[in-house]
Amino acid sequence: MSRLIAVTGATGFIGRCVVRELLAAGWHVRALTRRRPNTSFPTQTPTLEWQPGDLAHPAALQRLVQGACAVVHCAGAVRGITAAEFERVNVQGSVHLAAAILDQPEPPPLLALSSLAAREPGLSAYAASKRRGEEVLQRYEGLLWTALRPPAVYGPGDRELLPLFRWMHKGVAPVLGPREGRFSLLYVDDLARAVLRWTELLPHPPAGVYELHDGRSGGYDWEAVVQIMETLRGAAIRRLYVPAWCLRAAAWLVTATARVLHRPPMLTPGKVRELRHPDWVCDNSAWTKASGWRPEVEFARGVARTLAAAGLR
Ligand SMILES: NC(=O)c1ccc[n+]([C@@H]2O[C@H](COP(=O)([O-])OP(=O)(O)OC[C@H]3O[C@@H](n4cnc5c(N)ncnc54)[C@H](OP(=O)(O)O)[C@@H]3O)[C@@H](O)[C@H]2O)c1
Repeated sequence: MSRLIAVTGATGFIGRCVVRELLAAGWHVRALTRRRPNTSFPTQTPTLEWQPGDLAHPAALQRLVQGACAVVHCAGAVRGITAAEFERVNVQGSVHLAAAILDQPEPPPLLALSSLAAREPGLSAYAASKRRGEEVLQRYEGLLWTALRPPAVYGPGDRELLPLFRWMHKGVAPVLGPREGRFSLLYVDDLARAVLRWTELLPHPPAGVYELHDGRSGGYDWEAVVQIMETLRGAAIRRLYVPAWCLRAAAWLVTATARVLHRPPMLTPGKVRELRHPDWVCDNSAWTKASGWRPEVEFARGVARTLAAAGLR
């Protein structure tokens, strides 16, 4: 088996961390990039090569996967306004990648980063596209694929949750979900180690769809998160319970502005429905049983590292 692994989304928050972990484990990584040359990447070694291209370019994807013994698909659209924007990347991107893999004489196994959002496809265009991104893989006979469904992932380099952590660090906790709502979390290094664990089981990694979280069964509610942040901060944090109507109004405004500026919005009506969903708790047992992976970083430690990396501690 070759030691070459193809990766998409290597320039993103999770993909960077995955690539770092793979390189440290001795893999030769060929990474798809839309930016050229990719000098912004923190790790530059002879065992990392860049393949210019986009998920919409079948020829680039052919070059990406040629000779690879596995493919790790971290690329995805996480922000957007229309269903078509998410569909183009999260569904059609998977279709093109699967086709490129199956064109190989020995199709390499595929690990796709899905999302826990795929469990609730009716909530948002993003969630629907993540579910469809999994479903299209089922159509391909001869494709060995695994999909991981992480919950909210945080860690150094993340742009989505850091603003919230910053507010809490300053002493105000905007509580965006329902008080009774519960959710799982996952530190990015633990997700990267789950990917690495999958590679260790090649050429016969476990197939199917798996949830994974940071080891806290039953997850967190907002109060638990704020209390952990208070311990880290060494001082009380004021809770600011943001009503759903207020979030919906903000989403409307942000989306309208984003349309004018042609920029992907941070908050959309679909994102609000995701935030207000009461149950984002997931279960590690199937993935741990199939792979032996166990999370190592609980929230208190992970968020301390995240704040430190952002210069906040
Ligand atoms: N972050 C989370 O909390 C979380 C939770 C669950 C699941 N996920 C899933 O994990 C994956 C990675 O998320 P992330 O947080 O790392 O997102 P991110 O930081 O926005 O990174 C997305 C990556 O995908 C690439 N990409 C986007 N569109 C592409 C296209 N058309 N062709 C080629 N590459 C493209 C981006 O390339 P550029 O650098 O060129 O933009 C970037 O490398 C996504 O599939 C997401 O759904 C994330």
